Parts: sequence; C-alpha cells; structure tokens
Amino acid sequence: MPSRRNFISKAAMLASTSFIPSLKAFSKEDLAAFAAYKPQKTALEMATDEDYWWQIQQAYTVSPQIINLNNGGVSPSPSVVQNAVDRYNKLANEAPSYYMWRIIDQGREPLRENLAKYAGVSPEEIAINRNATEALDTVILGMPLQKGDEIVMCRYDYPNMLHAWRQRELRDGLKINYVELDLPAEDNELIVKKYVEQMTPRTKVVHITHIINWNGQILPSKRIAEEAHKRGIEVLIDGAHSFAHLEYKIPDLGGDYYGTSLHKWLSAPIGSGMLWMKKEKISKIFPLIPNDKPNSDNIRKFENLGTRPFMIEQAIGQALNFQLALGNARKEARLRFLKDYWAKEAKKLPKVKLNTSLKAEFSGALAHFGIEGLEAGKIESELFGKFKIHTSPIKWEKLDGVRVTPHVYTSLQDLDRLLEGVQYLSKL
Ligand SMILES: Cc1ncc(COP(=O)(O)O)c(C=O)c1O
Repeated sequence: MPSRRNFISKAAMLASTSFIPSLKAFSKEDLAAFAAYKPQKTALEMATDEDYWWQIQQAYTVSPQIINLNNGGVSPSPSVVQNAVDRYNKLANEAPSYYMWRIIDQGREPLRENLAKYAGVSPEEIAINRNATEALDTVILGMPLQKGDEIVMCRYDYPNMLHAWRQRELRDGLKINYVELDLPAEDNELIVKKYVEQMTPRTKVVHITHIINWNGQILPSKRIAEEAHKRGIEVLIDGAHSFAHLEYKIPDLGGDYYGTSLHKWLSAPIGSGMLWMKKEKISKIFPLIPNDKPNSDNIRKFENLGTRPFMIEQAIGQALNFQLALGNARKEARLRFLKDYWAKEAKKLPKVKLNTSLKAEFSGALAHFGIEGLEAGKIESELFGKFKIHTSPIKWEKLDGVRVTPHVYTSLQDLDRLLEGVQYLSKL
C-alpha cells in the first residue's frame, strides 16, 4: 500500500536526481500510486498539501514564462494525455484508414463505458463528440418544437447556446423568455423563483448553465429542474464548466439532456466533448449530422461526424485515468482553495470589486473581478504586459473585469504574482 511517506519519498528521490522529465511522463504505476494514495487527511485538508500538489504540477508541461490563469477557456493536458495523442497519431499515420478506423477505434466502446461510469449514467446514453457546443447544439437544433413553443434561459448563458436558441426563434417561431439574474447571487431560492416566473404553459425547455462561465456562479440546477418537471417541461443542462470540476454525477443535476466539453476541467485533448441524454429521449432528437436512422434510439447516431481525429477521442481515456487518480473531491477542494487564496486578498484592495461569491455553494475555481475606473481590456492587457499573467477579459451584461481560473497545476507563487498585479492595478 503506498503510504504518504513512500509517495513523498519517491517524489523527493526523483526530484533530487535528474529524473524530473520521466516523472512528467506519468506512467501507469504513477497513476496507480496517486489513485491508491489514501492520506489520513480529508479532501479539504489535502487542498493545502503543497507536497502533493507539487507532484501534480510536474505532470503538466505548461510554460514557466507565462502564468496561465484562463484555464476556463480551455485547459492544457497532462503529458500522459499529450503522449497518448502523439502515439495514436503516429500509429494512425502508418495507414490511416486501417489503424485509425479499424484499430484505434476499437477503443470507442470501452471509452464510452468508462465515461459513463465516471458520469454515473448508462453507456447507452453517452455520445463522444468534439465540444460542448456540438453536444448542446445537437439537442437545441435537433429537438422537435413548434411555432409558439417557449424556452426559458438567462442572458448569462453561453453565447453559442443563446445563438442556437435564437436561431430557432428566428427560423421556427419559438419564443425565448429570459431570466434576469443579478450576479453574484447567494440566494438559491430566489434564483429558482426567477426561473419559475418565466415558465408558462407553453414552455417546453428550460436551459440551465450549471456554472456560469462569466463569473463562476453555480446555479441550483436540481431545484430548477424539479420545478420544470412539475410543469412537464424538459431540462437541458450546460455542464461545460462543472464536469470534472465539481463532484457530482450527471443525474444529480436533474436534467434530461446534458452537454460538456472535456478539454476544460477534465484536461482531455483539445477538441473533445460529450453528450448525455436519457435513453427514452434519444429517438426524438434529430442528429445534427444525420446517419441512416435519425429516429433511432441508439445514442451512436450522434457520432456520425465524418472523418475526425480518433487519436484525440481515444486519449480522453488517459485524461479520465488522471482525473480518477486525482480524485474528484480532492480536485474540487484544491480548485476552490486556489480561488479563495487570491480572491479573499484581492477583495480587500481598494477599488477592487469581486464579482463572485466566496461561499463554497456558489463558486468553485472561477472568479471575476473588476477595478473601479479600469475597463476589462485594460486590466487584462496590464496583467499580461507587466506581469505575463494571462486572464480572460469579460465585459458581459453587468460584469466588467477579468476572469481568473487556476487549475490543478497552478502554484501559490503564481497566485502571489497575480496579487502583486492586482495591487499594482488598484493603485492606478
Ligand atoms: C458555459 C459554457 N458552455 C459552453 C461552452 C462551449 O464550449 P466549447 O467551446 O468547448 O464548445 C463554453 C466555453 O467556454 C462555456 O463556458
């Protein structure tokens, strides 16, 4: 049984020799050691165990020159995932139609099963695709709806999803009823009430973004879904920012349909995503890219995407292993700790306005802040220009500032540097 001492002493041994590069290429044994590592500490206590997180940092190949605090946009993969993509790519290029379609793709069903197990659903309800946009658009554009049918969503939903529903509004005569949220929010019942107020007898779908990308607000998806179901309304959940970030199984959110990217918090290769829907819903959703049986209840009808890189899909398996080794509870606790580490200090600075709740129920890794008198673009360009810190400028609805998203490889030194930057900006 790997103990904490063995684990750390192995790390110390590797660190004291020149073996760091091999440590970076995590082996199966390394992953097994991480997975089996059962510390005496709780996930919350582990969140501050810098020895452990130092090890995790070594699994990534991120630039030491630039501090990337926009992991919410897209996340890097650990080297074990990058290496898998490279291996599959090299193999595919020996004879693509043979190795990619006949050999590499034999991993599709095992991967579906592993993803389903992780997500707490049946493999017959999981389709592997390229991103959250594709997953969610499959449902939005494939659902049979009629003129006059209504949709409930909010203006803080992701633009691609707003665009997709608005296209249906334009093309099919649907009507969108918008929930007006004030963010950050710390009253779940008020949020639920605002969604319920927009539901009418004509409402067919409620669209919920589980974690709002702009400021990291966690919405009470299950409660909203319960209210929708009481009224016979279906629920589509955008899990792009919560999958492999918060600890939950997809059914816990109460939706009928769910889409996510895997290249965000799972650290899977860039260009990977997943669609889930209840088995009984599959037959009525028309695929975006049809196969020969668009009305079938086989979830695989959503994977008829044409020629695409199966090496990217297959390396999702390595990302999933990495996630399992990290442990969901540990990861969620660490991400929240990193957010709190900088945000609590930044909030105390003059002119700084934190636009994210610091209560665990309402946020995870993502947070947004503004600085009185400075626009989003200015904050972002100063942070990058003077401190080489990459963040995401966000000016959306009532938010004006930058979003900061650390990941499991982010160090406390990186966040100290961010605080230096925010302090500098607060004095401008
Ligand atoms: C809430 C939310 N939904 C959907 C998406 C779309 O993800 P992708 O670009 O991977 O399709 C994003 C991307 O940032 C997002 O933040």
